[in-house]
Amino acid sequence: MSRKRYLVTGGAGFVGSHVVAALLERNADVVVLDNLSIGHRAAVLPGAELVVGDLADPSAVDALVGAGPWDAVFHFAALSLVGESVRLPFKYLLENGVNGIRLIDACVRHAVPRFVLSSTANLFGTPDRMPIDEEVRIDPASPYGESKFMIERALHWANEIHGLRSACLRYFNAAGADPQGRLGEDHNPETHLIPLAIDAVLGRRPALAIFGSDYATPDGTCIRDYVHVNDLADAHIRVLDQLDRRSVRYNVGTGQGYSVRDITEAVGRIAGRPVPYVMGQPRMGDAAILIAGAEALRADTGWIPQFTDLDEVVATAYRWREAHPGGYGDK
Ligand code: UFG
Repeated sequence: MSRKRYLVTGGAGFVGSHVVAALLERNADVVVLDNLSIGHRAAVLPGAELVVGDLADPSAVDALVGAGPWDAVFHFAALSLVGESVRLPFKYLLENGVNGIRLIDACVRHAVPRFVLSSTANLFGTPDRMPIDEEVRIDPASPYGESKFMIERALHWANEIHGLRSACLRYFNAAGADPQGRLGEDHNPETHLIPLAIDAVLGRRPALAIFGSDYATPDGTCIRDYVHVNDLADAHIRVLDQLDRRSVRYNVGTGQGYSVRDITEAVGRIAGRPVPYVMGQPRMGDAAILIAGAEALRADTGWIPQFTDLDEVVATAYRWREAHPGGYGDK
């Protein structure tokens, strides 16, 4: 079998870097396109080639996509702060939506056969049922979610009209870190619960603010579906086989929900001392419960999350963060 060759936009970011690691493990040639505005040079493992470039530069994108052949393009590069997107909608619609559509156009022109999109559960604004499967009505909760939906729609027509097969993977809460300790989660600013709870217990930040305690959940705090980033990476690789036959879209999560308090308790168990926290106000736009119905992904691809124990997920994140007080050290 000939060696596979993949282009990964945003491969220096959190989920992208873990997918690059999984592709390298499968002995593929990997080229990463990243402008390093959010991603980190050190998150691109040796073995992958990093091209520092911007999706906003159509001629650079065209040249790189044209330098194929590529077996697939994986598209992670995106702004991903839901709160920021509510303040600056056009930043998200343009930088994520329009740049993503331009990338798809380049893939069509250069006859790329497969496209895998990093999409989001934010597509399902206020879901009418739980768990959230692929049939739940799409009504993006924010301009961030809308920008991903724009790309999903462009992929629909790229498939219908040009035969570009695509997989849209709607992630729930990506969590954890490379169990080998090479990669981790390093956002600036950090807004995600698990890294913030870890920093609070390590004394690197003030007490964690828990955003609301009056939700209609057993302990009053929001429930989310935390899927380990290695399991997410595995889903990206498994869907490639599907793309030999058809385009697909899958919700990706474990089907198991944990509350904010469950998370702080898990971080406390790993650290050996409780996470300092204060009860804060609810965050605008937060749904009480978001849990994935990922049966379709399991049935079609045989995907089974390997990280089923919350403490194990948190422990991988904790180990990397404890060992990297300044993250990758470049921001
Ligand atoms: N939370 C706190 N305190 C904090 C940070 C978060 O209580 O300091 C709570 C949030 O209110 C939420 C939960 O912890 O209930 C998880 O929050 P995150 O910010 O870690 O993740 P979100 O569920 O808000 O968002 C994630 C991704 C988004 C994606 C969304 C899809 O970060 O990109 O899942 O559902 F769109």
